Amino acid sequence: MISLSASSKDKEIRLDQPPAVSIQDLSITYRTTFEKVPTLRSAIVRFGRGERAVKEVHALQNLTFDVPVGTSLGIIGANGAGKSTLTRAVAGVLAPSSGRIEVRGRISSLLALGVGFNSKLTGRENVVLGGLAQGMTRAQVAQRAEHIAEFADIGEFMDMPLITYSSGMAARLAFAVGVHMDPDILMIDEALSAGDAAFKVKAAAKMEELMKSARAMFLVSHSLGSIKEMCNDCIWLHKGKLMLHADPQTCIDAYTKFLKVGENAFTMEDM
Ligand SMILES: Nc1ncnc2c1ncn2[C@@H]1O[C@H](COP(=O)(O)OP(=O)(O)OP(=O)(O)O)[C@@H](O)[C@H]1O
Ligand SMILES: [Mg+2]
Repeated sequence: MISLSASSKDKEIRLDQPPAVSIQDLSITYRTTFEKVPTLRSAIVRFGRGERAVKEVHALQNLTFDVPVGTSLGIIGANGAGKSTLTRAVAGVLAPSSGRIEVRGRISSLLALGVGFNSKLTGRENVVLGGLAQGMTRAQVAQRAEHIAEFADIGEFMDMPLITYSSGMAARLAFAVGVHMDPDILMIDEALSAGDAAFKVKAAAKMEELMKSARAMFLVSHSLGSIKEMCNDCIWLHKGKLMLHADPQTCIDAYTKFLKVGENAFTMEDM
C-alpha cells in the first residue's frame, strides 16, 4: 500500500474544460493462438500433429466514461477484471479493438515497466534514446539522463545492459523515467511496483508532488484504503465490464458487497 496525503483527492473537478480523457465504447479483445499439447492417444491417432487452439479474451467490453480535469480516478476490481488493460490502452501501449480513446495532454505511465526499453542497451542508452525519440536536444537529454540516474539510484547498473537488472532495478529506472517526463496525466498501476521499502518512500513523495501539477490521475489498486484516501472518482470493473462509475465510497461498498455475496446473489438495487 502506498500512503500519501489526501491532496490529490481535494483537487477541484473541472467540468468547464474538455475532459483530460474521454473513452467511448471501448472494447479490447486479446487473441492468442497456441499449440495444444497432444495426449498420447490423440498423438497416435493424429500421427503426432499438434492442434492449434485460439483463445479469445474480451478484456474490456463497451466502456464509456469521461475523466474531467482535476480527477483522481480510482480503478478497482478483481484479478483479471481489465484494470491493467485499461491503463495500457489509455497510455497508448495497446490499441483498442473498437471504440475510441481521446487523451488531452502528455501521459506518463508508471505501469509498463520498461515498455519501450531495449534489454540489450544500458539504462543510460535507453534513457537517451527515449529522450531523442521525444524530440529533445542532446544537451537536454544528457541533463535529463543525469536526473534520472540520480533518482533511480542504481549505481553502476545505469551503465550496464538492462538484461542484467533485477526486476526491482528495472522498476526503479522505469519509475524514474516516468516521473521525469512532466506528465499532464499520471497513471499508476500499483500491482507492478517492485521497488524496495526505501525506494517506495521516495516514490510516494515524488508522486505526491506530481499529482499536484497533473491534470488527471489514474490509480489502479487492490488497496481500497489508498483509493478512498487518494481518489475523488472511481470505477469498478468486473470481467471487462464497467459495473459502476461513482464516488470512491459508493464503488468500494458495492465491490466489497459483491465480493461477500458472490456474483449470482449480487443486485445493484440493494446498494
Ligand atoms: N497479453 C495478453 N494476452 C492475452 N490475454 C491477456 C493479456 N493480458 C491480459 N489478458 C487477459 O485479459 C484479462 C484482463 O487482464 P488485466 O491484466 O487487464 O486484469 P487486471 O484487472 O489488471 O488484473 P490484476 O488485478 O490481476 O492485475 C484477463 O482475463 C487476462 O487473462
Ligand atoms: Mg493488473
